[in-house]
Amino acid sequence: MAQQSKTQCIGILTSGGDCPGLNAAIRGVAKAALSKYGIKIIGILDGFRGLAENRTLVLDDYAVSGILTHGGTILGTSRDKPHKMPMGGKIMDMTAVAVQNAKRLGIECLVCLGGGGTQKNALHLWKEGGLNVMTLPKTIDNDVVHTDITFGFDTAMTIATEAIDRLHTTATSHHRMMVCEVMGHNAGWLALGAGIAGGADVILIPEIPYDLAAVAEHLLERRRSGKRFSIIAVAEGALSQEEAVAAAREREKKKEHKQKQRRGKNSPANAVGIVREPMASRLARQIQQLTGIEVRVTSLGHVQRGGIPTPADRLLCSRLGTKAAELLASGNYNVMVGVKGEACVPVPLEKVAGYIKTVSLDHEWIRTARLVGTCLGD
Ligand code: F6P
Repeated sequence: MAQQSKTQCIGILTSGGDCPGLNAAIRGVAKAALSKYGIKIIGILDGFRGLAENRTLVLDDYAVSGILTHGGTILGTSRDKPHKMPMGGKIMDMTAVAVQNAKRLGIECLVCLGGGGTQKNALHLWKEGGLNVMTLPKTIDNDVVHTDITFGFDTAMTIATEAIDRLHTTATSHHRMMVCEVMGHNAGWLALGAGIAGGADVILIPEIPYDLAAVAEHLLERRRSGKRFSIIAVAEGALSQEEAVAAAREREKKKEHKQKQRRGKNSPANAVGIVREPMASRLARQIQQLTGIEVRVTSLGHVQRGGIPTPADRLLCSRLGTKAAELLASGNYNVMVGVKGEACVPVPLEKVAGYIKTVSLDHEWIRTARLVGTCLGD
């Protein structure tokens, strides 16, 4: 018999880049909501776009059966924002339409599975549209605040670590250096975690702008000590010290430009940013020039987001999903379900949306990497 619930009908969508574990989380929410609380669940297709376009499917027990281990998302996803959505060649504010659609479907709370962008979009729907929301922290980047970990991260770290392991054997055979580019957007969690787990000799992350000469010297020193191969794990967002200064200047300029626009003053409409060569190949070329040692490049890309979730992610998604159902049943809305130690806990959405969790310089992983002799580029 279903237990009493303050919520009768919810919507659920997946938004932003996909990752392993989304289906496990959908299943966790749906199984608990359906069987324990008798809550009706409407799946929204392709993220916030599906809500604006009223594309849905009913998620019954049959629809969520057998999906625990499947990669991707049965609902589809997109990076669309409700308030800035390309529609028929124009950028439209679809907030009111999306909220109207949700209300017409009888949705009392919209459960949004996503990363930083999704948290902001969900907050927007609540604050500007008056639609109750709940979020679950999903991203391989692990950069969401007020949660110990995001789902998808463990799987991506496992894939990146296995790639580094495999690069090790071929690097050893050929006495080469291997640069391995890891995703992570503007945070270094993935590169640092996989780099430590895979025993990378150099790990470069956005939080520590690197000095190319220091990196080259570390690699040459390894050679001199008889180690004839090296692995360099580099986050896609890593910057050299010079680039970090240029990027800070660029950010400052953009801020000024926005302020001027707000004050109605003239400024160039299409300020051109720095055109950057792909991270790993630029770095490899520079390292090869400085050391004279042969370098090869591997960019892991979207492989890190594909395939089945690890057991740790399946467990995490099941915990987060079922906790979400419990909170919905008690009428606890407008929160993100985060992980704190052993528990899944509600966190007010205003404390999450618009913030990003990067690796702090005194984080234990940084200390660990330094203590095993890894060069972090500084
Ligand atoms: O946020 C997840 C992520 O995989 C980042 O690590 C990466 O920078 C980005 O998405 C890639 O996005 P897309 O799939 O749109 O190319």
